[in-house]
Amino acid sequence: MRKDFWEDKIVIITGVTSGLGKEMTKILLKKGAKVVAISRSKESLKGLQNELISFSKNLFLIKADVSFRKDCEDAFKIIKDKLKTADFLINNAGVGLRCEVEEIEDLDLKRVFDTNFFGAFYMMKYGIAFFKELGGGTIVNICSLGVKRPVPFTGGYTASKAALSTIADVARMELKKYNINILNAYPGSILTSFRKKALGKPYPEDEVRLSRLSPDVAARRIIRGIEKSRKEIYTSKKDYIFVLFTRLFPHISDFIVEKAFEKRLKGL
Ligand SMILES: NC(=O)c1ccc[n+]([C@@H]2O[C@H](COP(=O)([O-])OP(=O)(O)OC[C@H]3O[C@@H](n4cnc5c(N)ncnc54)[C@H](OP(=O)(O)O)[C@@H]3O)[C@@H](O)[C@H]2O)c1
Repeated sequence: MRKDFWEDKIVIITGVTSGLGKEMTKILLKKGAKVVAISRSKESLKGLQNELISFSKNLFLIKADVSFRKDCEDAFKIIKDKLKTADFLINNAGVGLRCEVEEIEDLDLKRVFDTNFFGAFYMMKYGIAFFKELGGGTIVNICSLGVKRPVPFTGGYTASKAALSTIADVARMELKKYNINILNAYPGSILTSFRKKALGKPYPEDEVRLSRLSPDVAARRIIRGIEKSRKEIYTSKKDYIFVLFTRLFPHISDFIVEKAFEKRLKGL
């Protein structure tokens, strides 16, 4: 891979104030990219600006709540006006939901879809129009490993990411002729504040996880996947092998997952 791959590339990232989004922002800035960092909180953006003061020349901050279409439209207006161009859009903003399907509150499910699906969809919609004008670009959607191997208690969250993954797969085929590339990342479990902030019921400390990555490692692996233009990006070999195994042996895969969650499924 060319060492200067990210040099002067403009990358728009949503959900930059913590976890994966923040790590990707730091790594991309270090690699020489210009980052348009989007967050819904002015205070958090200020904090990020102070933390990354040495990169201030290449860091552009925009306040937007991606679950509002108007905020996404305005964000692209600002980008067009101030920067004129962009190369990548990374739809990273997301919120979790842990709950048995039967007990999911409508409002929680709506909030999760508003951010994870509609937020990414609005950004994609305006991103596509912008990249068409520019003659090309790449859109990366941070989905979840659960889309490829669903597990108990994450039905509402995984459904929002599955919807995003599917619409992106369709867009990829439609947009090839415009030189617009769509990549989907399917991270396994990352040690961020994601679980703490998730809606629904609290995640138990000992909830089963196939992998357990630091945000830094996950961010590096996703960025590497983007450099390689991987249609499907995984954050660990173990995750990738389990997805292949699930495709080949879906019933055995179900059995393994049910066994792993046996205690929880019995309500223990
Ligand atoms: N952690 C995991 O195990 C895991 C696994 C697979 C996939 N993912 C996905 O990876 C992405 C990053 O998650 P993370 O683990 O880094 O969690 P995180 O630390 O909670 O970060 C989520 C980010 O999204 C932002 N956000 C949430 N709703 C938003 C909205 N409506 N508009 C704008 N920004 C919004 C949050 O900002 P606020 O501070 O304002 O809330 C925060 O900066 C998410 O899409 C998540 O679904 C995470």
